Amino acid sequence: MRASEPIDVLVTAAREARDRAIAPYSHFRVGAALETADGRIITGCNIENASYGLTTCAERVALLKALSEGHRVFTRIAVVADTAAPTPPCGPCRQLLWEYCGDIPVIMANLATVTSTTPLAALFPMPFDHRSL
Ligand code: THU
Repeated sequence: MRASEPIDVLVTAAREARDRAIAPYSHFRVGAALETADGRIITGCNIENASYGLTTCAERVALLKALSEGHRVFTRIAVVADTAAPTPPCGPCRQLLWEYCGDIPVIMANLATVTSTTPLAALFPMPFDHRSL
């Protein structure tokens, strides 16, 4: 973290969630933290499976946990991986985040610093959503 960078509790929560990642196959550990409109933080980590395809990303774990607990309005998400470059949500996670969060800031960080803060709309510029039906 740069000396001037304020500590963001959301990023800290995503870093802590990453410690709980279950990633024995890829060894690529990811943590996510979703902020609700009423200021709560719901976290997730990636959970892998021997079938590979049943692996669930950290962002999706956080989002589905939050939805299942009754949260419906979200303000930001932080995603943490141990990479120098930003780790953005995968395509399916972008689709799900767009559905339930809309155009929230996606804060990408590693263990030391924030690497990018990008609006979800910039990561997912031509969405298929309810307006498409
Ligand atoms: N992964 C996430 O959890 N979130 C991302 O944004 C990128 C990828 C996970 C899925 C898999 O367990 C591992 O990282 C390697 O793809």
